[in-house]
This record gives sequence, structure tokens and C-alpha cells, in this order.
Amino acid sequence: MINKSFPEGFLWGSATAAHQVEGSNYNSDSWVEEHTKGSPYIEPSGDGVDHYHRYREDIALMKNLGLNSYRFSIEWGRIEPEEGYFSVSAIHHYRDVLHACHENNLTPIVTLHHFTSPRWLMKKGGWASENTPFYFARYCEMVMKELGSLIPYAATINELNLPVNLRELFTDANIVPPVGVEKSTWETPAWKQEAARTLGIDKNDYTGFFMASSPEQVEILKQSHQMGRDAIKRVSPNTKVGVTLALPNVQSVSGGEKVAEKVWHTYFRQFLDMINGDDFFGLQNYTREQYGPDGRIEPPKDALLTQMGYENDPTALSNVVREVAKDLSIPIIISEHGIATSNDKERIEFINKGLSGLNNCINDGIDVRGYLYWSVFDNFEWMMGYQKTFGIIAVDRKTMKRSPKESAYLLGEIARNNGENVCQEKEVR
Ligand code: BGC
Repeated sequence: MINKSFPEGFLWGSATAAHQVEGSNYNSDSWVEEHTKGSPYIEPSGDGVDHYHRYREDIALMKNLGLNSYRFSIEWGRIEPEEGYFSVSAIHHYRDVLHACHENNLTPIVTLHHFTSPRWLMKKGGWASENTPFYFARYCEMVMKELGSLIPYAATINELNLPVNLRELFTDANIVPPVGVEKSTWETPAWKQEAARTLGIDKNDYTGFFMASSPEQVEILKQSHQMGRDAIKRVSPNTKVGVTLALPNVQSVSGGEKVAEKVWHTYFRQFLDMINGDDFFGLQNYTREQYGPDGRIEPPKDALLTQMGYENDPTALSNVVREVAKDLSIPIIISEHGIATSNDKERIEFINKGLSGLNNCINDGIDVRGYLYWSVFDNFEWMMGYQKTFGIIAVDRKTMKRSPKESAYLLGEIARNNGENVCQEKEVR
């Protein structure tokens, strides 16, 4: 029988990350980098969108829109501001955020690490140190002992594969790296060396999350996930645990099959062992990438691009879901899917087309349990600052006034109807 709608209990929501919305996250490595001379961050994260103080209002807004799930991250540097010192007030804060979710019937999906790390971890070797998996697992254990009963879904590390994806991309001969990334000094560009000095670390010992791409460092990331997952399961056995990966839809054109296969292995298949034992898989997709025999091919000249410069391609989502489903036997949650655009009509179309393809995947028997749009707010897009607008809700950062866009009402309505109103288009494959 063909199921015309989404499964019962499907998670409909949107996502944020602490550093991008909370504000004043000064104990993190990113804060240091943003304030480093020569840094490519076009502006600092500053007050974010003040979500640290406005979470109750924000969560109520999500509920009123019609959403039933909220993915956010807990900030390690707030929970453990110094090595081994755990902050009661930070735990209390996140407990209240979780209570607010439950009171508003939003299922929380909590990320334990979303790119940023505490300053002290960087001083201890960051993501190049073999002690980091232990520190990460201890932090996970602490959080889950206190808050686990309120957390039905936990993602250990956001986009654990991003460091290798970035290296793959920027070492491709055909790709011009973004501002601030020099090919020859990919490991420690000058501004990172400056950040290392600020933290009192030798310039060669500074390894933030994004830079952890050598085979040894990838092992450290994998081990961190596995030890984090085991710690979570030990103290909070009812919490479902997974990891999220950034997965563009990798396509081959005119003889690029072998290259595309290698890239897909780097992005995804090399992590299958690590995922073994997880309860769910967090899939994050934004676009497609095309490969020919000589490497990456830039989008066609007439392609519609997003503010980020990559192709606006909502059909990429279902293609990736079908690809990962070949290797996975655990449920998939779309933990991020989003578009940076100033034209909300484009966002609406992106969401509708993405969901229509997703619905076809579900009807074909693929076990997808949720869709979390990135992002709730226009927020701090890392080096690109506040100019890139992914949000379904705009924020005036002077008054901090929230203004939902049409897309927010659309997603809310889809959520209320459990996807009945997603336009059923013929999927382009
Ligand atoms: C990250 C977010 C980021 C988004 C848009 C994902 O890679 O998890 O933190 O803002 O993509 O670029």
C-alpha cells in the first residue's frame, strides 16, 4: 500500500547551535578566533540572537508555529568552563531549556558538540590529542547524568565528517578555497597561529574541530563519538544516540564515477564502522556536488546559487537519503536541511521540494523519522557572520525582535498536518 503521508510521530522541527544563537560564548575557541587579528570571520558572534536569555519565548514561538521538535546544542565550554570543573548554573540553564521544550510539546534533540570547544581543551591539544575522547566522554556523562531523563535523542558530534569534507574540497585542484583558507597552509594559517598565541599554545599545537582532518585526528573524532555514545548509554539508557554527518549529494558526470566513489567513501562510507551501534543517523544536506574524472566540477553557469555560493538543489536531499539507506539499518533523522537566501519564496520551494522527495523515500520503505530545517533563526553563520540568512525567523539584532517568515508558517502548517500538504511532485532522480 502506498503511504501518502509521513509516519505517525514524525519529528517536525528546526535546529540551532549554541554558538550561533546564544550569544557571549566567550569561553569557546571560536570566540578567540573571531577576535584574532587577520581572522577571516567577517564579524564576531557577539550577542548572537540572545537565545541564551530568550529561549522560553523562542520555544513558545516554535510551538505556536506548529512544530513538534527542536534540535539545539549544549555548549561544552559553559558546562565545563575549566577542565574537571562542572558548572551547576549552566546545567540548570539547559535543564530549564529542556523543561521549556517538554512543556511546549517539542521533542528535544540535543547535540553535545557543535563545532566549538572549550578554551582549556585547545590548550590540551584540542582535536589532535588522544586524551580528547576521554574528556568528551566525561562531559557527555556529566550532562546525561543530570539531564538524560529529559533528552530522548542525543547527537554526540555535529558533522563529525566536516573536517575531512573540507580538506577534500579545498585540496581539490579545481576548487578555489574561501577567504581565510590558504591551500598551502591548510593546517595552520597565519591567523590561527595568532589565535594559538592568544591561548598560550605553540602554533603547531592548535587543532580546532574544523582542522582535525589527518587520519590520526579522524580516529580521535571517531573514538570521541564512540566513547561519548557509550557514556551516554551507560547513564541514560533510554536516550537514543547518534551522530550527524554533512552529506552533499555526490554525483558523477562523464567518467567521474571512480572519483565520486572515492569522495563518497571519504564523506560517508569510512564512518560506517563508527556508526555501528548507534540508534539513529543524523543526515544533514544542503546541496549536490558533481565530479568528473579530474575532480570537482563547478555548478553550471546558469545554475541557481544560494547565498553560500552553492547550487540550490532540493532534489539532493532524497538522493542522499537513498544513498545512505543502502548501507544503514537504523532510522534516519534529517537533522539539517536548509538554504541561505534573502528570498523566502525560494526557501518555501526548497522545503516543499525537499520534503516531497523525502516522502517518496519513505513510501519506498526507507525509515526516516524526522525533518529539522536549518535554521530556526537568521543567525551567526561562522566566518560569514550574520549576512547569510538561513532562518525561518528573522531577528532584528538591535531590538532582538523575532519576525517569522512565510516559510515558518508553512513548516508549522506542514507539521500540524503531518506532511499531508507537502506538494506531491514527481521526484527528479
Ligand atoms: C552546520 C551549521 C551551519 C549550516 C549552514 C551546517 O554545516 O551544522 O552550523 O550553520 O551548516 O552552513
